[in-house]
Amino acid sequence: MPGKMSSASATRFRPGPLHGALRVAPDKSISHRALLIGALTRGRLSLTNLNTGADLQATRNAVTALGARIDGDGPDLTLHAPERLAAPGDVDCLNSGTTMRLLMGILAGAALPARLSGDDSLSRRPMERVAAPLREAGAAIDTVEGHAPVTLRAHAGLHAVSQRLRVPSAQVKSALLLAALVAGTTAQISGDERSRDHTERMLRYLGARITWDGERIELAPSPLQARDIEVPGDPSAAAFAIVGALVTPGSEVRVERLCLNPTRDGLLRALRAMGANLTIQGEREVCGEPVGDVIARASALHGVDLDPALLPTMIDEVPALAVAAAFARGTTHIRNAAELRVKESDRIETVAAMLEAAGIAVTRHPDGLDVTGTAHLHERIEVASHGDHRIAMAAAALAAASPAGVYVDDAQCARVSYPRFHEAWAELQR
Ligand code: S3P
Repeated sequence: MPGKMSSASATRFRPGPLHGALRVAPDKSISHRALLIGALTRGRLSLTNLNTGADLQATRNAVTALGARIDGDGPDLTLHAPERLAAPGDVDCLNSGTTMRLLMGILAGAALPARLSGDDSLSRRPMERVAAPLREAGAAIDTVEGHAPVTLRAHAGLHAVSQRLRVPSAQVKSALLLAALVAGTTAQISGDERSRDHTERMLRYLGARITWDGERIELAPSPLQARDIEVPGDPSAAAFAIVGALVTPGSEVRVERLCLNPTRDGLLRALRAMGANLTIQGEREVCGEPVGDVIARASALHGVDLDPALLPTMIDEVPALAVAAAFARGTTHIRNAAELRVKESDRIETVAAMLEAAGIAVTRHPDGLDVTGTAHLHERIEVASHGDHRIAMAAAALAAASPAGVYVDDAQCARVSYPRFHEAWAELQR
């Protein structure tokens, strides 16, 4: 599509180094869980530094529809959990897969009827991966040929959850855990491949009897205590500033209070293997999650055969990693990433198209990409975001190290997960 985009409607990200300290958007996954799991405590919780993007607006609406009361409308609020969950009626989950899938688990566990819908992108994403295991546990759920709208019906109650995951997805695992928790049954889940463990950590922090080892999870019926939750920075949001700094000569960025959960740090590991100059300082634990500061300095990177075991711990960071690979010496091979095909866009396709628009050699595979770095990018680069926030933000990192910047259509979609992305990026390039 080069040449077809009207510069007037596109956002231009400019070239130039990134400098300074920043706090990126609060972690989206943990924010969803703070609201949804907080609503299951029957008490009152202060939630601080919640993500306020559109995805979280969907979860706030859902939690209110479940009978919770929320005081405050910014990143800091008080959540009053309901005595009993209410049937929420129709819930619009907007663009948010996490909202829809975790809510399916809660509603299945509570045997409450509801109808969950979403925007066009969410309506194309697979929902049977959650509906089928919940149905096996006794829930009454219908999808429309595997997709939203999802209808939950009242049913006689769940039996104990004992399942092997067919898709190693944190959302599927979390839906099953929350279903069991709400139903007051046990859950034994195996087949996890180190997908993000925020649900497990938050349940443990709130007093649930839960154990997990990266492969198998066991939850015993547990009442939850209402305890305050502070959300750390989102590694998926930090990925773009970190990569932008690494690939743009003269850059140095410090990302503060970042979530360093080992099920989310695959990008940092991959970048280190590529020769990145990354320093971690001030590691500590906050509300059950490891947190610290990451300093990224411009580095000469080289291509790698990415360890396939890292992929589940960096699945949302592949667009950023691909930008790092575009400036690395040699070729980076990314595999075990077929899940990218069912994200907010088909990210194997949209990442490949973004890099090709810049003149970078890419080979597509069913489950990944090969990216060969180059020092010679096109002068005029136009990227289609396809409404996918992570593609828009990856284009900003690409632009930083480009000769003349990058034009991106609908770059405002970054606000879905990172409401202040454009302002934060402008501050780093000032
Ligand atoms: C998420 C899990 C991941 C991730 C998504 C958020 C979560 O999806 O891609 O952005 O909050 O549980 P899967 O669990 O489907 O891999």
